[in-house]
Amino acid sequence: MRDPVRTIFWKGSCVYVLDQRALPARTLFIRCAEYRQVGETIRNMALRGAPLIGCAAAYAMALAALQFSATLRPHKSPGKESRAAAEFIKHMAEARNVLISARPTAVHLSLILDRMLGRARNLAQAVPFDAGKSWKALKSEAERVVREDIQSNLDLSRHGAKLLPHGAQIITYCNAGALATGGWGTALGVVRQAFKIGKLKKAFACETRPYLQGSRLTLWELMQNKIPCALITDNMAGYLMGREKIHAIIVGADRIARNGDTANKIGTFTLAALARYHRVPFYVAAATSTIDMKLAGGKDIPIEQRSPKEVVEINGRRIAPRNAQALHPAFDVTPHALITAFITEKGILHPPFKRAQTS
Ligand code: MRU
Repeated sequence: MRDPVRTIFWKGSCVYVLDQRALPARTLFIRCAEYRQVGETIRNMALRGAPLIGCAAAYAMALAALQFSATLRPHKSPGKESRAAAEFIKHMAEARNVLISARPTAVHLSLILDRMLGRARNLAQAVPFDAGKSWKALKSEAERVVREDIQSNLDLSRHGAKLLPHGAQIITYCNAGALATGGWGTALGVVRQAFKIGKLKKAFACETRPYLQGSRLTLWELMQNKIPCALITDNMAGYLMGREKIHAIIVGADRIARNGDTANKIGTFTLAALARYHRVPFYVAAATSTIDMKLAGGKDIPIEQRSPKEVVEINGRRIAPRNAQALHPAFDVTPHALITAFITEKGILHPPFKRAQTS
C-alpha cells in the first residue's frame, strides 16, 4: 500500500505543495520559491493537518536559509563572516516569526520552527560560517522531520491496529491520513494498518463540515487504497452507532494538553460525547510530539477562529441567507474523560502525561 500522492517536496530550489483545496477533483501543486509562500499555503489551507504543517514549516525554514545564502556575496575576511552569521540568525528568526502566525492550534508549527531555528543557531556557530552549507544542512533537517513523522505514524498504526478486533468497523473524523502528515497517517494510518492485516471490515468517514476534509480527502485516500469505506454526514454518527456495530472511533489531534484534553477538528467533541453514550471506545491517534507539556489543560489551547464565509458558503456557493451571521471555530477540545486511550508511537498511553513519555 503506497501513499497516493506526495503532499510536499523539494525540487531544484523550490518547495512544491499539493493544493488540497483542489482535491478530489484535481491534483495541483503550488511552487514556492520563497518561505513566505509556504507560510501562505499553511494559512490558506492549501496544505493542512497538524503534522504536515510541521513538515511544511521545516521546509519553509530551509527555503529561508537558501534565500539568505543567495543574497550573500562571498566573504573573504573573517570579520565579514561573523557578521554574515549574525545576519543569518536575524533572518532565520524573522522567518520563524512570520511563519508562526500562519495557524495557531497545531503544536507542530511552533515545535518545528523552534527546532529549525535551534539548528540554524548551531550552524551559525561554525567557523568559518558557510551559508551554502547551512541551507543544505537545514534542508536535510527538514527531510529528517518528514522521515521521523512517517516512522511515528507507522509505529503508532501498528500499536493501534492491535486494539481492534477482526471485522472491525471504525468511524473517523476530518482527515488524519497521508494527506495530513509526512506520509501514511495517524488515525487513518491505524485504519490502513488494520486493513493491511485483514482486521478491517469498513471505515466510515464523517464529512467534517464546514471544510469537508472527510468527504474530499479521507474518502479519496481510503478509495485510493481500496479500503472498504462509506461517507456519512456528521449528524449521522449517532444513528450509525445505534444501528451498526462500531468497534472504535479513531481521530487525530492538533494539540494535547498534559491532562489529555485534546484539540482536534471542530465536531470531534460531539463525536466523543456520542461515543460515550453508545459505549464505543474513542481513541486519539497522535505522535507524542503532539502533547504540549507546557499546557495543563484544554482551556489553554489556542483555538483558531476562521472566516464565517467558510460556513455560509460551500465551494463559493452561498447556502445561508445573505448577511447571515455565522461562527467558525476551526477546532474544539475533547475533555480527557471522554478519551479511552491515546495511540502513540510509544504504545498505548493514558494521561496525565509525564515529560519522559513525550519526545
Ligand atoms: O484544519 P485542518 O484540516 O488542518 O485540521 C486537521 C485536523 O483536525 C486533524 O485531525 C489533525 O490535524 C490531525 S492530522 C494527523
